[in-house]
Amino acid sequence: MPGSPSNTVTAFAPAKINLYLQITGRRDDGYHRLDSLIVFADIGDQISATSSDQLKLTIEGPFAKGLSSGDNNLVIRAANILAEFAGIEPRANITLTKNLPVASGIGGGSADAAATLHALTELWQLTLSKQDLLALAQKLGADVPVCVHGKPSFISGIGEIITPAPDLPEAWLILVNPGIAISTPEVFAGRNGDFSKVSPFATPPPAYTEFAALLNERRNDLTVSAIAIAPEIQEALSALDTSPGQNLCRMCGSGATCFGLFEDEIMAQKAADDIQTAHPTWWIRAARLRS
Ligand code: C5P
Repeated sequence: MPGSPSNTVTAFAPAKINLYLQITGRRDDGYHRLDSLIVFADIGDQISATSSDQLKLTIEGPFAKGLSSGDNNLVIRAANILAEFAGIEPRANITLTKNLPVASGIGGGSADAAATLHALTELWQLTLSKQDLLALAQKLGADVPVCVHGKPSFISGIGEIITPAPDLPEAWLILVNPGIAISTPEVFAGRNGDFSKVSPFATPPPAYTEFAALLNERRNDLTVSAIAIAPEIQEALSALDTSPGQNLCRMCGSGATCFGLFEDEIMAQKAADDIQTAHPTWWIRAARLRS
């Protein structure tokens, strides 16, 4: 029954990785048009929500420090926007377990908002069409709709046009954050130069080798701007570049986290361990790409 005190729901908020991210134009309102392949990793934050007579957010976990649980938190905004749409009071005790570094280009905040929409839809026993859920998600941020979708996708527009990606081969990622948070608007504002062509894959890559080759033909157009703000990103890319077994290394989203792509789990784990040994203060994780 909705509102029952024993009622707890959980939702996983996976790390979101732009395997490539090309800027294809700029709108009059300043937002950039994107062409990107987004995938999700098997590591992430966790949302749990319990019935309550009020709306309250508790943040715990290794990256909880410094995060506000006030009205501006995307989790609270997601709860309010969903309740308003449904015409109900936003009543829930929500716990966010923050495992991913904050402002790190792997979509933590957007994934948390998407997981909140999923968890509260279930907790409040709402019936929403996918279209309504995606429209609410879009109001929370350009990246939130694809996180609601939660499957490998090409995105276009400013992030709101989602096209399911074809089946992708199994792959491993290592995520490397050199311990810095970076401002997404600042990175977008610092981008210069020509726009890229829209280039989603026309056909599914038959195997890992072709997959890596297709990705290597594309790029992350925010890299130069992000490195100008945070030169440590170049160090993270160099550490990945010299790791045996990687077939691609690139910045995630607007940075500062970077990723390496591996076919082999053991080589990915070994590369993660070696980079961690050389850089004990960096945040480094090996993760499987979720299909
Ligand atoms: O929508 P979101 O809050 O994630 O975007 C953060 C900022 O990144 C925006 O305010 C904008 O400056 C920039 N941005 C952009 N074009 C996009 C997405 C984000 O310029 N497609």
